Amino acid sequence: MQPSTSKQTILVLHGPNLNMLGKREPELYGRTTLTEVNTRLQTQAAELGVAVKCVQSNHEGELVDTIQKAMTRCRAVIINPGAYTHTSVAIRDALLLLDVPIIEVHLSNIYKREPFRHRSMIADVATGQIAGLGVNGYYLALQAIVKLLDN
Ligand code: DQA
Repeated sequence: MQPSTSKQTILVLHGPNLNMLGKREPELYGRTTLTEVNTRLQTQAAELGVAVKCVQSNHEGELVDTIQKAMTRCRAVIINPGAYTHTSVAIRDALLLLDVPIIEVHLSNIYKREPFRHRSMIADVATGQIAGLGVNGYYLALQAIVKLLDN
């Protein structure tokens, strides 16, 4: 029998302004580009025997559409909703449609920043959250998801 995670797609969703990673406030978000993050995730996924699909959008509705499609196509979601973390009831509601593990990732530690970043609309609908570990947060999230799917 195949391991339970074999050939199962994990959706990695990057929200607004994350396409500017590497150029955007590098002292806060680091110098690694989004392409580099996604490439490393693809490599790591291949090593772990899973597939990842990475999507970035600056548009709330597109993020909602992508999450809705994940209902039938994905076994788990890793999401950094960017600024929508703090505002989007629509993304929260879309995530509530899913019955799969969801890990919320933030490059920065949102709890050490401005008060408006302390509230996440996603945190209580996610399986877990990783914040403040830079791009490593994505790689750790993928490892955690694979362990969750294996259990
Ligand atoms: C972020 C934190 C958000 O507050 C911010 O709007 C972002 C990036 C992070 O990864 O640290 O766009 O999600």
